[in-house]
Amino acid sequence: MKATAKAHTNIALIKYWGKRDESLILPMNSSLSVTLDTFYTVTTVEFNEKLTEDVFFLNGEKADHTDTERVSNYLRAIRKFAKKHLFAVVRSENHVPTAAGFASSASGYAALAAAATKAIGLNLHPQELSQFARLGSGSACRSIYGGFVEWQKGVKEDGSDSFAVPILHEDDFPIAVLSVMVATNRKKVLSRAGMKRTVETSPFYQGWLDTVEHDLSELKHALELRDFTLLGEIAERNALKMHATTLGANPPFYYWQSATMEVMEAVQNMRSQGIEAYFTMDAGPNVKVLCLPEDEQKVYDQLKQIPSVKKIFTCHPGPGVTILPTG
Ligand code: DP6
Repeated sequence: MKATAKAHTNIALIKYWGKRDESLILPMNSSLSVTLDTFYTVTTVEFNEKLTEDVFFLNGEKADHTDTERVSNYLRAIRKFAKKHLFAVVRSENHVPTAAGFASSASGYAALAAAATKAIGLNLHPQELSQFARLGSGSACRSIYGGFVEWQKGVKEDGSDSFAVPILHEDDFPIAVLSVMVATNRKKVLSRAGMKRTVETSPFYQGWLDTVEHDLSELKHALELRDFTLLGEIAERNALKMHATTLGANPPFYYWQSATMEVMEAVQNMRSQGIEAYFTMDAGPNVKVLCLPEDEQKVYDQLKQIPSVKKIFTCHPGPGVTILPTG
């Protein structure tokens, strides 16, 4: 009753922003991401009949009450589905620079879903696994697959048609994603709270909904054509639009810091020098810069010169979730 899984993070090119169901984690819009090779989580789950509660270790240390409760609530859904009332020890190693603000619930819940369902004896189709990962964190459902992945929002109330599907294998369209970590000094509004506030209070949210499906179909077209310029333009535009919705929320908020804008400007300047680079940002101040592999060194060198840039991690499209041998 033990299994280990490895899952990678992903970055959305068309963002998931807003839920139509908070408890089943059903999104208002479909989204599309690329799974990244550099950052991942390895999680081992062991169910044991001697245990009287779930225990959670994160990076070798016993996790606090809040984190343990979230993992335990999550395991409850798996127990219920498998009809086995056993508690588990969960050990998670995050190879994601969490303290640096690259915390990822996507790789975390994708690895947990895969390890827990395997350990409890369920043999799921990736589509079902994607739905289980979604119940932990929306973006996690996309990390089940490698390469370019679409999360189809679905329309059913029970969420049975809301899962990720692979669009392009990780080797099919080589791009580079430079994860740029900037100096950060503000406590962030978590994505879960931020999207809820935006849906409930921002008059700009309707504008997001009115255009996001069009952005998605254009991006899929760019992938079909392997058109990097089109991909970059759409991804940058979609990210800016998502961030614009937060400015209309009540109370208003934004994820950018001055360093974020410096990186955005540097990327736009690169384009005026003929280097094809584009940016996207999630619910935090760090920036992901998209470029072609042949430009990655040039882009890296220019970003490195910005004083507020602390670290740059170079990533490429990476693989989907895998079950590892348990020791
Ligand atoms: C801005 O998946 O972290 O990164 O479903 O509430 O756990 P929950 O949210 P989460 O939100 C990710 C939002 C985003 C965009 C994206 O990854 O698509």
